[in-house]
Parts: sequence; C-alpha cells; structure tokens
Amino acid sequence: MAIAEETVLVTGANRGIGQALVAEALNRGAKRVYAGTRQPLTHPDRRVTPLTLDVTNPAHIQAAANQVEALDLLINNAGIWLYDDLSDRAVLEEHLAVNFYGTWGVTQAFLPLLIRSKGTIVNNVSLMALAALPLTPAYSASKAAAFSLTQSLRALLAGRGMRVHAVLTGPVDTDMTRSLDIPKASPASVARAIFDGVEAGEEDIFPDPMSALLADGWRDGVAKALERQNAALAQAQPVTA
Ligand SMILES: NC(=O)c1ccc[n+]([C@@H]2O[C@H](COP(=O)([O-])OP(=O)(O)OC[C@H]3O[C@@H](n4cnc5c(N)ncnc54)[C@H](OP(=O)(O)O)[C@@H]3O)[C@@H](O)[C@H]2O)c1
Repeated sequence: MAIAEETVLVTGANRGIGQALVAEALNRGAKRVYAGTRQPLTHPDRRVTPLTLDVTNPAHIQAAANQVEALDLLINNAGIWLYDDLSDRAVLEEHLAVNFYGTWGVTQAFLPLLIRSKGTIVNNVSLMALAALPLTPAYSASKAAAFSLTQSLRALLAGRGMRVHAVLTGPVDTDMTRSLDIPKASPASVARAIFDGVEAGEEDIFPDPMSALLADGWRDGVAKALERQNAALAQAQPVTA
C-alpha cells in the first residue's frame, strides 16, 4: 500500500507520535488526513480535517464516522500510560477504556468504509504487549489486549482484502515517556518507520532501534507461527460489516 493519494485517519493526532504521523502522511502525499483530537485543532495544511474524537466517547466516534465519506487507512494511535501496581481496578479500567475499547470502538465505526476501500488498519500497540513492564502493568495488559485484538482483526479481515498491522513500539521521545531517562527514538523517525512498514506490507512493525532488535526473532518465532496456524482456521469465515 502506498500512502500517496490515500485518505488517512490518525487518532491522538495533536501531539507525540500522532502529530508526527499526520506530518509524515502529508509528506508522503496523502490526499486527506483526518486528525482525531480531544481538543479543537487547527492545522496549516488544507488537506488536514480535524475531527473531535475522544476514543472513549461513543457519540464522538459516531459523529466522526458520519463526517468521513471514504477512508483507506485508519491509525489507532491514541493512548494513555500511567504507573500503577495493580492495586486499583479503576486504573486498569482507565487503560482498557482508551487503549483497548477505544481502538475497538473506532475500528468498528470505520469498518464499513475500510471494507469498501479494501483498506488498512494500523494499531500503535507497544513492545509491552509482548512482555509486560511491571512498573506499568495496567498499561501492559491493555496493550496485550490491543495486540490480541489486532491479530484477530488481521485474520478476520484478510478475506476482505484488508491489512491489519500492529506497531510494536519501543521508547519514543514524547510527553508519555518524559520521566524515563533512557535512549528514545524521535517521533518523526518512528512515524517514517511505521509508514515504511505499511508500504512494505510488514504485519508487525518494529519502528525504533530498541524494538528492531526483536523483529527477526519475532517473525521467525513460535508465537508468530502459532498466530498463522490459528488464523488459518478463520479464513473460511470472514466477518460481516
Ligand atoms: N512514547 C512511547 O515510548 C511509546 C511506546 C510504545 C507505544 N506508544 C504508544 O504510542 C501511542 C502514542 O503515544 P505518544 O508517545 O505519542 O503519547 P503522548 O505524547 O502522551 O500522546 C498521547 C495522545 O493520545 C491522546 N489521547 C489520550 N487519551 C485519549 C482519548 N481518550 N481519546 C483520544 N485521544 C486520546 C492524547 O490526546 P490529549 O492531548 O488530548 O491528551 C495524545 O494526542 C500510544 O498509544 C502509546 O501507548 C508510545
């Protein structure tokens, strides 16, 4: 899939990786970029259409879907990351609401348009989906759930000619990781790597130096082989829109 002349929607588009994804989509010649944000957004490029989109708000999601006539690429990027110790159910629910149900809800709302275009879904997950960081266990659990969702959507939508990518992102220099004093990739470099991965048809995208170290082992590993084996069971019965 090439991004040029495509219509793209990015959630969490006002800062961090989402803002960089909007800029990179424009660099690559996207025809229209819908920028989903919780607060009002203005953008100097006329190809950008702001959408009010809190991904935990079903009314926002429905209103956004009503505004978009066609869509080729949905990027579920909005996310939250809080420290916890698994003692508070509310923190788990907060993470699941944004990182899991938000991704699910936005995807469901735009699925008819994406099926029509034989489009692409990109879920910005996290390396923590593969191995929990026990400093942020609620976040890790929500990203593991979002990754599982991504794997199932990939299998269920393959029969519709659609592609579903997971981005297994490592540390990136955004507000989210401001408290971490470790090497971090720039949001711009990660946005480029995400679109490179989509254009190259990589199912699982490892967009930064830390995650890239795991890419070959993951792609040749037993978990990926099992995913393919399980996916084959679903191929005969694609989902309805
Ligand atoms: N930074 C990293 O190291 C890293 C690593 C792995 C994965 N990721 C993932 O990458 C994605 C982007 O993260 P980031 O680093 O760019 O973080 P960020 O700078 O903190 O930005 C988070 C974005 O998500 C939006 N958001 C939060 N809750 C939302 C909601 N309920 N509805 C809609 N938008 C919401 C924020 O909007 P507001 O401005 O309104 O809060 C903001 O635009 C996240 O899914 C994150 O989990 C990041």
